Amino acid sequence: MNKIIYICSYLLFLIACDTKKAAKEIEITTKVPASFQMYKTSEMASLMRTLYSSNKKIKKQITNNDEIGDFNEIFLKIHTATLTDSTVFDDSYTTYANHFIKTQKELFVVPKEERKEQFNAVLDACISCHKDRCTGPIPKIERLRIR
Ligand code: HEC
Repeated sequence: MNKIIYICSYLLFLIACDTKKAAKEIEITTKVPASFQMYKTSEMASLMRTLYSSNKKIKKQITNNDEIGDFNEIFLKIHTATLTDSTVFDDSYTTYANHFIKTQKELFVVPKEERKEQFNAVLDACISCHKDRCTGPIPKIERLRIR
């Protein structure tokens, strides 16, 4: 009789442990999407989305022969916005960023007939940095090109 009680409590102990383990696993999987979201909303990533959507709008204005407004000072945050990977801010990053800002600023001062060419030069500046840093968005940037 004693032996049976012993075996039963041993089995109960095993089951209890297993449930604990399962609970722990659930905890881990709910944590992953949370940090993924953090990556999604880094300051730089959200600035990049602004760069993308602003230039998409500018593309439309150029192809419709509309006014394109002025350089958006928010773009200058490319020098300071916090990144998902903080090791990215080195000398070559600064060179790419300066080149990008220069071409983007020029877009707003060139004569109307040179806007298309200058717009594509801006995309080239986006892509040079991306080739070196994060190649993922390149096809998306390419699709902005004015043919
Ligand atoms: C000086 C370098 C540099 C330049 C110039 C640059 N990018 Fe980026 N871009 C990055 C880096 C680095 C990331 C990754 C940001 C992060 O994960 O924090 C990124 C991310 C992106 C993303 C993905 C954002 C997301 O949702 O995660 C898009 C889209 C993008 N860039 C578009 C552009 C466009 C369009 C331009 C030009 C108008 C441009 N980039 C110019 C470095 C650059």
